[in-house]
Formats: sequence, structure tokens, C-alpha cells
Amino acid sequence: MMSKKKLTIPQMKAMKKAGKRFVMSTAYDYPSALLIEKTDIEMILVGDSLGMTMLGYDSTVPVTMEDMVHHIKPVVKGAPNCFVVGDLPFGSYNISVEDAVRNSVKLMKDAGADAVKLEGGETVAETVRVLVRAGIPVMAHIGLTPQMISQLGGFKVQGRDAMSARKIVEDAQALEEAGAFGIVLECVPAPIAKMITEKLTIPTIGIGAGAGCDGQVLVFHDMLGLFEKFLPKFAKQYANLGPTIVEALSSYSEEVRTGCFPDEEHSFSMSLEEVEKIFKNS
Ligand code: KIV
Repeated sequence: MMSKKKLTIPQMKAMKKAGKRFVMSTAYDYPSALLIEKTDIEMILVGDSLGMTMLGYDSTVPVTMEDMVHHIKPVVKGAPNCFVVGDLPFGSYNISVEDAVRNSVKLMKDAGADAVKLEGGETVAETVRVLVRAGIPVMAHIGLTPQMISQLGGFKVQGRDAMSARKIVEDAQALEEAGAFGIVLECVPAPIAKMITEKLTIPTIGIGAGAGCDGQVLVFHDMLGLFEKFLPKFAKQYANLGPTIVEALSSYSEEVRTGCFPDEEHSFSMSLEEVEKIFKNS
């Protein structure tokens, strides 16, 4: 068993300075957290991508605070030595900063997250500042921000021209200045992500942002082949467990129908003498 200790935010900054890379995976439940805990992956994101991977929605927009608390709790239990970031779902920080503080406190106190993540650039910088002042560690998220999918016109790479790229760089700087301890860069061209990473003192975590970031995050279901509906271009599949699971389930079904399961090995026996006594006494 690998010895593992939860990272602290100062250690993250020191890792960036030393050029050490971070690894983050999403997780949404106890079994996946237990598996991640066994690896050297340091950080878990309980992302609102759970709307798609766990709840069957077409986007992250319908995800609620209750959904987030429900899914963060078992992850924290299963991976006590991972730094767990919980996503603030759409609508939980957009109406007022009071809401943002109340809901972030909920993700940390009720669910046990170590930090929260929210989407947006300069427009949420003030919210980030207030949260950080309230003692809440905030991870920012810019580039493709799935909660704004309608405004963005779909799951598309952001910052492909000089003007929009400059805006992403400015967003990153505003979020660092507001006190975010790290920034997810989603679906931005690799040279822009590299430029942001070099400009900031806080770590960048890329997803579809090339190799120049300080760390990477991938969706658990994407990297393990557990979500067949859609696989983004940037998501590398390290295993294809979906078909293996379907095969196992089909074997189980066939064995039940043909009477092969349960066999003796998977049943409980009783001495013949005791069986006979049942009939004698009745
Ligand atoms: O919700 C999520 O899983 C995310 C990652 C894609 C970064 O925000």
C-alpha cells in the first residue's frame, strides 16, 4: 500500500515552483474514490460533470447543490488522502456573493470538500475575492466553461484567435489576483495554456489544454471507457471497461438462465442429518 498524504495549498505552489506536475481525476462515488486513493493521484475533482456521467443529463446545468453534497461525501470518505475539490453548480454562486459563500461553506462543512471550484473569468473575480477572504480555497475554471454552454454555442475550443486568447490570459491574471489557488484551463490552445502557466504563480490544471500546464485533470469515466455517449478529442482512454462490464453482466445473465449459477461453490450447505430432522419434526 502506497503511503499518501493530502497535499496542502502551499505545497501545491512549491510543486509548481519546482516544476513538479499534479494529477487530478474526477470521482463521484465511494468505489471510484477508493480506487484513486490507491494510486499516486493527488487531487480529486467532484465535478458537476456528474450531471452527465452519473445522472444522465445532457449538460451540467441541471445539477443542484444537493446533488453535489450527495456525491462529494462518499468521495471524501473513500479518498482521505486526496485533496478534494467540489464544483459549485450553476446558479449556486451566480446570484449573489452571499449565496456563493453559503454554498461554498456547505460543500466544505456538510460534504467535506477541501476547496470549491467555480467557472468564469474576470466577471467572477470579485466572488472569488470574497470567498477567499471568508477562508474558502477557490479553484477557478476558464476557457470552455460548460455551465455557459448555450452562450458558447457548444463544447468548442476557446481562445483560437488573438483577441479571445488575450481575454483568457487576462481572466487568468484577474483570478490569480483575486486569490484563486489554482485554475482549470479547459479546451484552450496549448500555446495559450503554456503562456498562462508561465505568467502565473498558482498552478494551472489542464483538460484539453496541452502539455504546458502544471497538472492535468481527466474525467474518470472518459479515461476508463465507462461513458459511451461522448468521448472528447482530448480525453485519452486508458482502459475500455464498458465492454468488459457488459460481457460480465451477460455471462451472469446466461448462467442464471441456464442454471449454472449459483453452483455449489457459491451456495451454503447443511448436513443431511439436519435436513432430515426438519421432516421428522414436522
Ligand atoms: O465538472 C468537471 O468534471 C470539470 C472538469 C471537466 C474540469 O469541471
